[in-house]
Amino acid sequence: MEKDFKAIADSLPCGLIITDNQLNIQYMNEFAREKIFSGTRNSIHANMRDQVYYTTDMRLFSMDDCMQNMINQGKRDFHKTLILKSYGDDRLVYFSVKGFTHKSSEFYIFNITDISGEMDCITYSPGTFGKGEFILRKKIIGHDPAIVEIYRMISLAADSEVNVLIQGESGTGKELVADAIHELSDRKNKPLIKVNCAALTETLLESELFGHVKGAFTDAYKDKTGKFEQANGGTIFLDEIAEISQSLQVKLLRVLQEKVIERVGDNKTIKVDMRIVAATNKDLRELIRHNIFREDLFYRLNVFNIKMPSLRERYLDIPLLIDYFVEKYNRTTSRSVKGLSKEAMKALLTYSWPGNIRELQNAIEHAFVLVRSGLIELADLPEEIRKGPKEPVDKKERDLSASVYYAEGFRKNKNRRLTINKEQLMGVLEMNDWNQTKTAEYLGISRVALWKKMKKLGI
Ligand SMILES: Nc1ncnc2c1ncn2[C@@H]1O[C@H](COP(=O)(O)OP(=O)(O)OP(=O)(O)O)[C@@H](O)[C@H]1O
Ligand SMILES: [Mg+2]
Repeated sequence: MEKDFKAIADSLPCGLIITDNQLNIQYMNEFAREKIFSGTRNSIHANMRDQVYYTTDMRLFSMDDCMQNMINQGKRDFHKTLILKSYGDDRLVYFSVKGFTHKSSEFYIFNITDISGEMDCITYSPGTFGKGEFILRKKIIGHDPAIVEIYRMISLAADSEVNVLIQGESGTGKELVADAIHELSDRKNKPLIKVNCAALTETLLESELFGHVKGAFTDAYKDKTGKFEQANGGTIFLDEIAEISQSLQVKLLRVLQEKVIERVGDNKTIKVDMRIVAATNKDLRELIRHNIFREDLFYRLNVFNIKMPSLRERYLDIPLLIDYFVEKYNRTTSRSVKGLSKEAMKALLTYSWPGNIRELQNAIEHAFVLVRSGLIELADLPEEIRKGPKEPVDKKERDLSASVYYAEGFRKNKNRRLTINKEQLMGVLEMNDWNQTKTAEYLGISRVALWKKMKKLGI
């Protein structure tokens, strides 16, 4: 029968895990082994606590706390939708746990169903996930409420057909947002055509957008389909929209109003069906005031507005973005950089980032050229970042966010009980206001063990 049980359990399309009352895993079925533990784990010796969980609004979820609450309330089961962070891969899972007694010992049975693929069927409460948010989180990195709001805006924009204007400083991710809107919309199987309005002269841009017929101008040797026609059924992304000339603004306005175009040199009208997403790092209202940009065009483009936050406004995301880029360059350069020294981290957290995320990405790429050990040091960073901040910054808050970074890194470490160093432990303590009970809970160790560690490390 035991053999039968295993065969049956292995054929289940969900994870089944049995633990003792300390959450040490005693058994897991094939699905759990392959999909939840990514096939890298030997089931024995693993502990359910060792995985990192997030609630759907991206708060850390403590399995210990939750089990403790359950016991305190005299209950033997709980269920919850969680994000499972196992081995760098995010999965949305429906979690249910039930306690049972077998031969007078206490056990728990965990049932974990992967619902990542079911995203569209799930209705989330406001402030949590919107349509495709799970996909967005993998591409547009951030935890900050400002970026969560961007996820929401993208979902709303994707669900509608209206024109979208994305505004924000250089390097804040405007193009990523345009990509996401298209990808999540019903137009996703049709083309996304991108045009950089600043890259071409007026005449070239016009023929690029509208196309032309043979002989329309000197270099027009044959007919050419414009970008508007190419985007038919899909989306056109007009980047740097502030740069288009007055006369093109008038022509664009007509396209927006009438959904028709004429190729240059032709008077035949062609119907086009496309969604327009435009972007700019300029203040269009300011340009309107100076009669550089047409107000009527602005209102046509700006039906739905998305304002990208600067990196300065969401500096708490810096550690997260660093992790993301370090991982990315480790992959592309086959290196194994572990992270940043505390000094380097502080420099990045206090820098003003005029070039936003693109500049951060470049800084990490730069550091990868210079880094000698497994850790990026201050000296590996570009000079302007090493020179330090020009404006005063809230130092205490940023120090704290460096601590969170170290604490998280430590928590992710599988052999954490063996390897915690002084800096990491100080980080966790600082993050928990030096409250030893909370710190011990966070680390999943007893207070006595924490006290011993602190003593050993001379804290
Ligand atoms: N939230 C993010 N997560 C991960 N990568 C990001 C994020 N935001 C931006 N990036 C990366 O930063 C770079 C700049 O982003 P993007 O080109 O979308 O910015 P932009 O606002 O269009 O800038 P510009 O105004 O200079 O054209 C890209 O390489 C992009 O992949
Ligand atoms: Mg851009």
